[in-house]
Amino acid sequence: MTEDDWPQVWPFFDEIVRAGETYAYPLDLTSEQARALWTMRPPGQTVVLEEGGRVLGSATMGPNRPGRGSHVGTASFMVSGEARGRGVGRRLGEHVVQWHREQGFRAIQFNAVVETNTAAVRLWQSLGFRIIGTVPAAFDSTAHGLVGLHVMHLPLV
Ligand SMILES: CC(C)(COP(=O)(O)OP(=O)(O)OC[C@H]1O[C@@H](n2cnc3c(N)ncnc32)[C@H](O)[C@@H]1OP(=O)(O)O)[C@@H](O)C(=O)NCCC(=O)NCCS
Repeated sequence: MTEDDWPQVWPFFDEIVRAGETYAYPLDLTSEQARALWTMRPPGQTVVLEEGGRVLGSATMGPNRPGRGSHVGTASFMVSGEARGRGVGRRLGEHVVQWHREQGFRAIQFNAVVETNTAAVRLWQSLGFRIIGTVPAAFDSTAHGLVGLHVMHLPLV
């Protein structure tokens, strides 16, 4: 993701956070604050998937913890509402797994997958991730109230 891509990412970032179903970011972020949160610095990175100059989705990736936790990676994904169900999320997920393998990570851990986000849970399971456990009532969903957050894990070695 370059600085020029952000104006196309921000509208779906904002829409996804405001929808209140998938991410526990602050609810009053400005575009600049959101850009700072979504832009991973090396050794991590943030990518976009675009088609004909139109950004359809974005993913962040990098070490889940610094120092002695840095051999386990993590990632976040957002696909624009109009582009969903066309394989964009799957392609970004495949890229993230491949990137972690190439960088020598030993595993990928998703820290907070909302249990009612069935599209995401099924997608990550189909890429080989397993639900390690669920933190009860850790997410306040607009539609479902208090729901659990799955920790999902994919070993790479
Ligand atoms: C989750 C998300 C990234 C999926 O992206 P997408 O581009 O719509 O997903 P894809 O088109 O690649 O679909 C991949 C798989 O997801 C699942 N899926 C997608 N939409 C679904 C839906 N509405 N219901 C159930 N499963 C669904 C299917 O298992 C699908 O498998 P298939 O390829 O065999 O059909 C996207 O919906 C999104 O950005 N949601 C809001 C933010 C979010 O939840 N991010 C992830 C947080 S963990």
